[in-house]
Amino acid sequence: MVRNRLTLLAILIVSVPALATETLDFEIGKSLFNRNWVSAPASTKADDGLGPLSDASSCAACHAGERRDEIMVIRLGNAEGNGDPVYGHQLQRRGSPGVAPEANVEIAWHAAGALRTASIHLTDLGYGNLAATTRYALRRPLRIAGIGLLARIPEAEILTRADPNDADGDGVSGRPAWIIGNDGKRVLGRFGWRASEPTLRAQTERAFFQDMGLSTTGNAESWGECTEVQPACRSAPQGASHEETEISDSMRDLVVAFLNEAPAPRVGSPNARGEKVFGAAGCAACHATPRLTEGRKVLAYTDLLLHDLGPGLNDGIKEGAAEPGEWRTPPLWGMAASLRAGGLLHDVRARNVEEAIEWHDGEAAKARAKMRALSDADKAALLAFVNGL
Ligand code: HEC
Ligand code: HEC
Repeated sequence: MVRNRLTLLAILIVSVPALATETLDFEIGKSLFNRNWVSAPASTKADDGLGPLSDASSCAACHAGERRDEIMVIRLGNAEGNGDPVYGHQLQRRGSPGVAPEANVEIAWHAAGALRTASIHLTDLGYGNLAATTRYALRRPLRIAGIGLLARIPEAEILTRADPNDADGDGVSGRPAWIIGNDGKRVLGRFGWRASEPTLRAQTERAFFQDMGLSTTGNAESWGECTEVQPACRSAPQGASHEETEISDSMRDLVVAFLNEAPAPRVGSPNARGEKVFGAAGCAACHATPRLTEGRKVLAYTDLLLHDLGPGLNDGIKEGAAEPGEWRTPPLWGMAASLRAGGLLHDVRARNVEEAIEWHDGEAAKARAKMRALSDADKAALLAFVNGL
């Protein structure tokens, strides 16, 4: 098996013309990001290990910016931060041959005034009912463009914007997402809708494990997210023996190398008036442009902090350091691509930028009020600015 995986790398390496090591790592990482994994046992051993439970067979299936309900994941959890005792933290909708998928999902949209909300209907639950306290909610894939720059923003820079007790009284607090890492030490979470993963390596390991059922050093169990009460799933054929993981450390690191270099979205044409209104309305208090060590501004429009956006966006699920109503400020760059991919906010409920702002409450209530009070011309400039990011 180990030999097969090395062969895979060798094939990938010879298929790429002679390149600098960094570029080579990027290209191999990219091909691993695009690779379709299959369930064990498979004729091509190097590609197997998918599942037994999964939501997709490649990273790219969810991160290519397509508009499909299937690429949103169903997050499970409760207000204490626990997953469901049977189904875990994610409801996987695919099973390997002989393994029941956890459920089928139908999403229906309902009008909520001029806005809309999702109702998720779970059918064919494969392993009995969810626990009474388990809540479930949609998460759309975040974009990976420019993600390496977010990884490089110094921790001290993120912490300068934190104001957990709102000491300056502006109504916006912003909490650093302190979580306990695998080594038991406190680390700053920065990835995911709830900033629940501290590094691209941790986020990648979680994706292999939770989205595709592939084991890595950080999540060494080859049955992925099957819990103890899913024995058929735990005993299904695996892509790795007990001594190894389905994804080797070097493969994982190549995927991380690809993410680190993924180009940032192209910055739109300057819109001085819109940018000014964006600042004056208080959007930039959260949607900030932090600096890298060398002083360069990252035009992502996020402070990477957690903010409580009020009851309308509270899904009852605590994740990492984030309480159920708290979300990490999402980057706004690449707005056109996010809109093309199906909508805005964590569950695509907002069909455009104005709807997204209408959902802002809690710490962002003042900014929403300011947006509502703008003159038509200023509002148009603000929306054009955000749409152009
Ligand atoms: C089934 C769909 C799916 C698959 C497959 C998938 N992802 Fe994701 N990805 C998501 C979703 C949904 C989120 C947001 C999850 C959350 O915050 O709860 C996400 C978040 C991320 C983020 C964080 C981005 C940010 O702004 O913080 C990165 C990085 C990422 N994925 C990389 C990967 C990699 C690498 C793979 C393959 C190993 C992968 N993903 C596979 C759906 C998927
Ligand atoms: C208190 C912090 C805060 C303020 C102030 C704020 N936002 Fe946000 N914004 C957030 C958070 C957190 C989310 C994610 C909420 C979710 O997905 O449920 C978000 C989401 C968004 C989104 C959707 C992004 C996406 O990719 O889905 C847009 C657009 C947006 N904000 C624009 C604005 C504008 C314009 C303003 C000013 C009128 C503003 N925001 C003020 C914190 C803030």
